[in-house]
Amino acid sequence: MPNDLLKTLTKNSSNQIPIWLMRQAGRYLPEYKKIRNKKHSFLDLCYDANLASEVTLQPLQRFDLNAAIIFSDILVIPDSMGIEVVFEEKTGPSLKKIKNLNDLKTLQSNKKILNSVYEAITLTKKKLNPNNSLIGFAGAPWTLASYIVEGKLSKDLSFIKSYFYNDPSFIFNLINLLVEEISCHIINQISNGADIIQIFDSWAGVLTGNDYQKLIIEPNKKIIENVKKVFPNVPIICFPRMSGHNYKNFCEQVPCDAISVDQYVDLGWILDNCNDKVIQGNLDPVLLLCESQELLKDRIDYILEVTQGQNLIFNLGHGVLPETKIENVEFLVNYVKSYKK
Ligand code: CP3
Repeated sequence: MPNDLLKTLTKNSSNQIPIWLMRQAGRYLPEYKKIRNKKHSFLDLCYDANLASEVTLQPLQRFDLNAAIIFSDILVIPDSMGIEVVFEEKTGPSLKKIKNLNDLKTLQSNKKILNSVYEAITLTKKKLNPNNSLIGFAGAPWTLASYIVEGKLSKDLSFIKSYFYNDPSFIFNLINLLVEEISCHIINQISNGADIIQIFDSWAGVLTGNDYQKLIIEPNKKIIENVKKVFPNVPIICFPRMSGHNYKNFCEQVPCDAISVDQYVDLGWILDNCNDKVIQGNLDPVLLLCESQELLKDRIDYILEVTQGQNLIFNLGHGVLPETKIENVEFLVNYVKSYKK
């Protein structure tokens, strides 16, 4: 029997609105910080299958969530391609910069490090209640290319954009290479037990027009085609963050099962313009920092009311913030779970 989240993703009626949260495991949880402190670096934690699996399950022990998302990062792909990734406290990730095709050709790949992610998926799947799904994920090509070319993200991604304007063939080659790497990583996650996939295109919103078509729509579409050839029935959620009016364009062309929307777009507009997709997201993560649960309740009600009768997966517009109040997460999850359609 499919659970409520899988039923919603396949547009079969379910009695409850499923909920999970991007970054549901993380620094707002004391039990996460305790395990995180055992490891020198964040990536060491990602590559320790036992600890990654333990951290994946932590939020489900506290909250009545419908899914676990495997604890890993989108930057494990560049790391496995031989592009060294370092996570620095407070300043975020920094990568060895790739400046041209030659830099790409000289990389020494280390695909074996991804085996720990697949092992963590297998371990987690064994422990997970069948009512809960296991979500695997990857970054989309443009978002990964941004980190790879910029090293450390610049304001407005002006660095990768100027590379693209000056030397488009380099960027297209990198994007095509990433389409293959990402498709393979997703297929391996499903082979090891992931029930659902989410593709994060966190920086989709800096592009428009033909650039959006070539660098966001076409690569996301190609990855889904590659994965669906092997696993036609595994639902795929796309998150082209901050796409604005391009959400419509994206939904018309990309054969994903669900669209995850950020907090900067009106949900009524999304429902009118992306109506053949299951909708996920939109609640502002900052609401989980607020003092008033009344305000939080009003904003949750708004989402539940506008989406009445539609297939909705409750989620945030972006990840849970480290300053989040645990009692607000508890309130949100219980409130959505007690809502009768
Ligand atoms: O959602 C989950 O709970 C699963 C785990 C997950 C992480 N990162 C763990 C993480 C997922 C799905 C991601 C995706 C990810 N990683 C994205 C796409 C989503 C988004 O946020 O836009 C991006 C762009 C990254 C890259 C990344 N990883 C950045 C920019 C940072 C630094 C910012 C920060 O929050 O620290 C990370 C670090 C990171 N990834 C942490 C976690 C729990 C914090 C590191 C720590 O605990 O020390």
